[in-house]
Amino acid sequence: MKIIIDTPEGIAEQAAAIYKEILDEKPNAVLGFATGSTPLDLYAELINLYKAGEISFKDVTTFNLDEYVGLEPTHDQSYRYFMDTNLFNHIDLDPESVHIPSGIDTSADALAGYDQAIAEAGGVDMQLLGIGCNGHIGFNEPGTPLESLTHVVELTQNTREVNARFFDSLDDVPTHAATMGIKTVMNARKLLLIALGESKADAIKATVEGPVTADCPASVLQLHPDAIVFCDEAAASKLSL
Ligand code: PGA
Repeated sequence: MKIIIDTPEGIAEQAAAIYKEILDEKPNAVLGFATGSTPLDLYAELINLYKAGEISFKDVTTFNLDEYVGLEPTHDQSYRYFMDTNLFNHIDLDPESVHIPSGIDTSADALAGYDQAIAEAGGVDMQLLGIGCNGHIGFNEPGTPLESLTHVVELTQNTREVNARFFDSLDDVPTHAATMGIKTVMNARKLLLIALGESKADAIKATVEGPVTADCPASVLQLHPDAIVFCDEAAASKLSL
């Protein structure tokens, strides 16, 4: 696991440069995207690079980590809507090449079909990750088996409270989500996790310096052959590096 500490702006630039490297080498890369506040600067940077003619997503296929159960793709808090408004609508990605777990059809077939679609696309070349204050990746909350594939999870009260800022009230935050499993994430050839802010400091310490345990799902990145963890100073503040 490679740890890189930089300012949030520096992280967005360095991470965008990694996307450019991958796309220069493999224009039809399979990219795993994430939602949340953390990747917003990176997405703005990717849009800038696209508008400057430096990168193209024309031949890219995407797979997002997760989606709230019960929200239609058009719901303004769905992760599909988030991706459309913050990235996809601003680049030359073919909408047909976008994959996000369905929050509506969460049948066993649909969930297994998500892993199947990833395999059929040749696997994810690089998966972007945020991290929850409790160490979750995607919506794999503490206790999720490390062998899990795409599945439905019940969100913890803490995760719902943290995400309530995007909804009118806590009651409006869905109780469940469909998420890539930990194994689905680990199958990606490269992982790029970004952690910003003091609220992530404990999770980052457990991820980087703690044992590999389902209690901190992100700790599994220690076992990945090509995982990069970008932290700002605040998120890195509890590391004993
Ligand atoms: P955030 O969420 O980027 O909004 O902090 C990250 C996560 O919960 O995985």
